[in-house]
Amino acid sequence: MRIQVELSDAVQDYVADVSLREPDLLLELREETSQLPLHLMQISPEQGQFLALLVKATGARRTLEIGVFTGYSLLATALALPDDGSVVALDLNEEWATTAMEFCTRAGVADKVDLRIGDARETLAGLLREPGAPGSFDFVFIDADKEGYASYYEAALKLLRPGGLVVVDNVLWHGAVVDHEAQDSETRALREFNAKLRDDKRVDLSLLPFADGLTFALKR
Ligand SMILES: C[S@@+](CC[C@H](N)C(=O)[O-])C[C@H]1O[C@@H](n2cnc3c(N)ncnc32)[C@H](O)[C@@H]1O
Repeated sequence: MRIQVELSDAVQDYVADVSLREPDLLLELREETSQLPLHLMQISPEQGQFLALLVKATGARRTLEIGVFTGYSLLATALALPDDGSVVALDLNEEWATTAMEFCTRAGVADKVDLRIGDARETLAGLLREPGAPGSFDFVFIDADKEGYASYYEAALKLLRPGGLVVVDNVLWHGAVVDHEAQDSETRALREFNAKLRDDKRVDLSLLPFADGLTFALKR
């Protein structure tokens, strides 16, 4: 028998009540984003706080984010970086990224952010060609199109130093990964991605069934 707390609304409210410390600007960003039709793409405030804690716990100074949207995870992690830290942030959508940069500017962390607009397959290829970039990152957060996860992960492993951490969001895809009738390209890509990591000896691995499923891969 597995011990597992049922995550009822009451338990989730309790968790937020006793542990969530959301800065005012992140709350404002969440409220502003809630007006957008695709607002559910945004990570939860608990996830943002957890990513920030990971950045601090790992002593990360140079991070990479693939999938910015309006910038919740970007702002949460940029705030957690030291003053001389930096984050390379990749997204396709200029309009959403503009919102992200506005909030980073207001929070006083815009100078830490190197935003690159374009298909992440191309911006990552460009980053990998930059002298000194491979092996220079401490932390990578992958949260863009699911069909791209496998190639983003491969790029992340090249960009990370040994001991660097990749965090990957949405790996349980609302539970669709175990629904055999779900055969859309995103679900299939996530199933293949999860199976690939299980057997990947280049990393130490953990998948937490937290939020929509978060995978942690530590480069050996
Ligand atoms: C789930 S959202 C990211 C949420 C964000 N991390 C947050 O905390 O709010 C996914 C983002 O990936 C971006 N995206 C999708 N396909 C992409 C691609 N091929 N290259 C770069 N970004 C992409 C989308 O524009 C979108 O902003």
